[in-house]
Amino acid sequence: MVKQRVVPAVLILAGVAALWAAQTDTQLSDRAIRAYLDQIHGQRGMMNVPRADGEFLHDFIVKRGYKKGLEVGTSNGYSAIWMGMGLRKMGGRLITLEVDQRRASLARKNFTHVKLGEVIELREGDALEIIPQLKGPFDFVFIDAWKPDYIRYFQLLYPQIRPGGAILAHNVLSHGKDMQDFLEVIENHSDLETHIERRSQAGISVSIKRQ
Ligand SMILES: C[S@@+](CC[C@H](N)C(=O)[O-])C[C@H]1O[C@@H](n2cnc3c(N)ncnc32)[C@H](O)[C@@H]1O
Repeated sequence: MVKQRVVPAVLILAGVAALWAAQTDTQLSDRAIRAYLDQIHGQRGMMNVPRADGEFLHDFIVKRGYKKGLEVGTSNGYSAIWMGMGLRKMGGRLITLEVDQRRASLARKNFTHVKLGEVIELREGDALEIIPQLKGPFDFVFIDAWKPDYIRYFQLLYPQIRPGGAILAHNVLSHGKDMQDFLEVIENHSDLETHIERRSQAGISVSIKRQ
């Protein structure tokens, strides 16, 4: 009698354990991802955002409930992983654009390693050519590529950002002189509410499109 009850209980426990294992196999905890981010941060030639800026991007996405994001300038995927971690909580997705083959290949490996391959899609090529082919609207774009091109990204992407959405740009404090035309537009645009996040010396501009 006891044996008859114990066997199904053991089978149920084994089933629960298998389900748990499958779950943890498809997702890495935030803690594990953050540990990996610390490992890949600052690799030579990758020009990653400072950790504080990565944290900000993650928190900003979660706080505003954004789901559909775009990044211009992937490098090895450091900032994309921060954003991907936020977007997976929202059931969202990120498209990230990178022109350099070597960095794109490193980023792909990193996305797979942290099991965010379903959340982050990398498109390899020149962002100025890819953006016109993308289907918006987007909740947000994070621009972190060649600084003098920011104004061109803005012109291409502004119509693709939904009202209530955001245009974020990196290095506005550290490289302001290389993007003066862009800064002038976002600071004076009647349909944008702009402020600068100063978590790091690089600075991130945050421009929210009015509803
Ligand atoms: C500052 S790094 C990006 C760092 C990344 N956001 C991070 O924090 O890990 C800039 C990247 O933009 C890429 N890039 C520059 N111009 C580009 C373009 N026209 N299209 C796509 N990627 C571009 C560069 O190859 C470089 O990897």
